[in-house]
Amino acid sequence: MVLLEVRNLNLWYGDVHALKGVSFSLRRGEILCVVGESGSGKSSILYSIMGLLPEGARLEGEILVEGVNLIDMDEERRRLIRGKDISMIFQEPSAYLDPLFTVGVQIGETLMAHGERGNLGERVTEAMRRAGIPKPEEKVNLYPHQLSGGLKQRVCIASAIICGPKIILADEPTTALDVSIQKRILNLFRKIKGEGRSVILVTHDFGVVAEVGDRVLVLKEGRVVEEGDVESIFDSPKDDYTRMLLSAI
Ligand SMILES: Nc1ncnc2c1ncn2[C@@H]1O[C@H](COP(=O)(O)OP(=O)(O)OP(=O)(O)O)[C@@H](O)[C@H]1O
Ligand SMILES: [Mg+2]
Repeated sequence: MVLLEVRNLNLWYGDVHALKGVSFSLRRGEILCVVGESGSGKSSILYSIMGLLPEGARLEGEILVEGVNLIDMDEERRRLIRGKDISMIFQEPSAYLDPLFTVGVQIGETLMAHGERGNLGERVTEAMRRAGIPKPEEKVNLYPHQLSGGLKQRVCIASAIICGPKIILADEPTTALDVSIQKRILNLFRKIKGEGRSVILVTHDFGVVAEVGDRVLVLKEGRVVEEGDVESIFDSPKDDYTRMLLSAI
């Protein structure tokens, strides 16, 4: 079942035409990996879906979630979707976390933003546990600077999953982490997928694609140059650019 369908997406930042007719779909319970060189538009796709583009950006096309076009939606309705139905894990957890608040408060804020007040503490520690944070009841009261990079990233994952979103957008969530923590986080994505949720995972690491990806979208200069199952992309890439990216590993 198709959960998200992006049709002919065009995005401009002023004069920069960053996405050029991007189309793809995301099915239920699937991990779609988006790969491509720096500047190819990977993050731009996620920010477009999330409705978090900077002032002055212009977006055309369709982003359909269960048939509803997000692009036409007013900010108030989008805000209701953000965090609850679609959430995002950012590349740099330190930029996302506020140094002045404990991680427990920050994870709980996502729930509060959607009007949920019941069992807050319990739900926060439960989300932390699901995100692979050991002893969450002790960690809730810590501040971001008291946690390692891997734990901070798992805090971001906890706040991304706490409302039970159908779609999780992850922008290079493991790039800054060492290999063992990276593995744990990839396992977590598999678990999330097992719950019937869908993930768009931006990475430029084909090792990550091989490990958790179901399908791959290859971007080059704002265009989709290849889309397919992970196996077929690895076995017989159709595009020269994909071959070039693969040969780099
Ligand atoms: N806020 C912005 N204002 C102007 N141009 C931007 C802005 N954000 C991105 N761009 C441009 O849009 C294009 C796509 O950028 P984007 O960040 O989506 O690429 P990316 O594939 O995520 O790259 P990276 O791998 O480095 O994160 C680039 O040419 C970039 O310079
Ligand atoms: Mg990016």
